[in-house]
Amino acid sequence: MPRHVACVMDGNGRWAARRSLPRTAGHRAAETTVIDVIEAARSAGVGWLSLFAFSTENWRRPDTEVEFLMHLVRRVVRKHAPLLHARGIRCRFLGMTDPRIPPGLARDIADLMTLTGRNRQMTLTVAFDHGGRKDIVEAARSLIRSGVPAGSVTEESFAAHLPFSDTPDVDLVIRTSGEQRISNFMLWQVAYAEWVFPSVLWPDFRAPDFLRCLHAYRQRERRFGAVPPSRNGEPES
Ligand code: IPE
Ligand code: IPE
Ligand code: MG
Repeated sequence: MPRHVACVMDGNGRWAARRSLPRTAGHRAAETTVIDVIEAARSAGVGWLSLFAFSTENWRRPDTEVEFLMHLVRRVVRKHAPLLHARGIRCRFLGMTDPRIPPGLARDIADLMTLTGRNRQMTLTVAFDHGGRKDIVEAARSLIRSGVPAGSVTEESFAAHLPFSDTPDVDLVIRTSGEQRISNFMLWQVAYAEWVFPSVLWPDFRAPDFLRCLHAYRQRERRFGAVPPSRNGEPES
């Protein structure tokens, strides 16, 4: 079982386009998938689930789409906060530094994080206004400000300056819609993740699809650069 699963929730726009609907209809339809996947992950025993909801690059989208996403996330947060709390899920948002984030949304997110902060069933991290490079640059700034000598910096001490530094490395990344890119997502944490790219669009992705991804993960042999124990002897003759 992967300890930390991360999803790049992609394909909302194409889902809508196939139905001759505006892109925003695809985002609205994504809500059902989000709730389904959270529940599937929790009941499968995944301890850490991260969802990529809005990137630092997504600000380049039309204003109307960005505004819609801000409203949608606020509505989802308010609507599902009691359920998430009842399920024992600790919720947090990674990113959220841009001044364009509406203050009402920031308040509701802060309330959700406070409400669920002591829960231990699963940690749900929503990457929102998130950029992997931005986090690494911020960590570098924080490290320099701490006055640590360059020669003492290690991977561990550097990682301690990343936001939510208690987050374990990502074991499995699921990117829906067939696109095969990182798109600046949790760059530090995905260093040795396994990847799966189901072609299904995010609004059509459901618990059975998620479980299939977990199954695919279990077929992988993770080597981390080493020789796997099954093949550590002499070449087969
Ligand atoms: C992912 O779906 C949702 C966000 C990035 C907010 P897209 O909106 O990227 O959908 P496609 O890629 O255009 O189909
Ligand atoms: C990545 O998807 C961001 C999210 C899923 C939130 P995009 O659809 O924005 O990524 P690109 O532009 O195709 O790389
Ligand atoms: Mg996309």
